[in-house]
Amino acid sequence: AFVRANQEKARFEAASTDFMQDTVQAMRLFSLLVPTLYLFVNCAMAAVVWFGGPRVVGGSMTEGQLVAFVNYLLAMQFPLFLLGTMATVYSAAQASSGRILEILDTAPGIQNQHGARTLPHVKGRVAFEDVSFSYSQQSDVPVLNGVNLIAEPGETVAILGATGSGKSSLVHLIPRFYDPTAGRVTIDGIDVRDVTVQSLRQQLGVALQHTVLLSGTIRDNIRYGQPDAEDEQVVAAAKAAQAHDFVMNFPAEYDTEIGQRGVRLSGGQRQRIAIARALLVKPRVLILDDATSSVDAETEAKIEAAVQRWMVSGTTFIVAQRVSTVLRADRIVVLERGSVVAVGTHPQLLASSSVYREIYESQLGSGGAADG
Ligand SMILES: Nc1ncnc2c1ncn2[C@@H]1O[C@H](COP(=O)(O)OP(=O)(O)OP(=O)(O)O)[C@@H](O)[C@H]1O
Ligand SMILES: [Mg+2]
Repeated sequence: AFVRANQEKARFEAASTDFMQDTVQAMRLFSLLVPTLYLFVNCAMAAVVWFGGPRVVGGSMTEGQLVAFVNYLLAMQFPLFLLGTMATVYSAAQASSGRILEILDTAPGIQNQHGARTLPHVKGRVAFEDVSFSYSQQSDVPVLNGVNLIAEPGETVAILGATGSGKSSLVHLIPRFYDPTAGRVTIDGIDVRDVTVQSLRQQLGVALQHTVLLSGTIRDNIRYGQPDAEDEQVVAAAKAAQAHDFVMNFPAEYDTEIGQRGVRLSGGQRQRIAIARALLVKPRVLILDDATSSVDAETEAKIEAAVQRWMVSGTTFIVAQRVSTVLRADRIVVLERGSVVAVGTHPQLLASSSVYREIYESQLGSGGAADG
């Protein structure tokens, strides 16, 4: 579709050529080593006959002794040949292990800080304090620029903005997919960098923009974050995510295999499984990053209502490009090129923010195109 077949072919050919050259090198070593070994053995044989022959004739050595020497040499031949083969395999293995170690040695970007403690059970107050962030040190345009934002437990905070405005980047700082370049992110006043990544993520539920489901059953996918969950819990989470009905339509229900060998789910179905998975862990902070973008508006409203009931005491972040997704939030944060340009409820923003009014009118105002 992108008319890139020739470029991709060239890339593949380059990779194949690399591999071929490595193989040729290994074979060259092999083809050099083995004849050398044979030459060595045969020269030794000639030497034995050259020096031993006259002695046998002269009587200072028996024929048997000479034959024994020749046999010793023949016995040496096979181990030497094996040694040559091993040298070849060794050099190939060395090349491979180098590449494997390269990957194993790649440290994950985010690690526990020295002396990181376990995050105690939190209420879920999330605060961004003067947070700036860029993906690389060199880039002069930060993705996030001095963001200040507080989400209280029980609140649903929506983050609205155009594509590329930094919505995903902002919420990714909570589970520490990245660390801020400046400022800090806290939960209940604790800097997320001061606690272990594991204890932090245990209290978070995250449904990402690009859903990753694993091959396996629907039940296993929903239970991913809590493998010992009871069936009733799985069903309750699926019901809240509006996934229960379509799951029950499969003959094998929750045991339906998905992935390469199983049924193929639609984008909206995958998103609902991902939301169920995030809800099941009973998170203190729930992050839905464009998690309902492929779901119709009616189902989306049902999910949001159910999520709000599920998260009564916890904090919910809803990231969206559609105004219809954020209408019911307690607070809407409008992000533009990495900066917060407006905060408030829907009616407040309609009255006070021209940016919000523009987005609202372009999507819902005239003509009422609900899924713009
Ligand atoms: N992994 C990354 N490495 C480098 N730059 C990135 C990365 N992810 C995002 N960016 C850049 O950061 C900026 C903000 O991206 P981000 O994904 O946060 O936007 P977004 O608001 O979530 O957009 P969308 O609505 O399309 O999901 C963009 O300019 C993007 O190009
Ligand atoms: Mg995004």
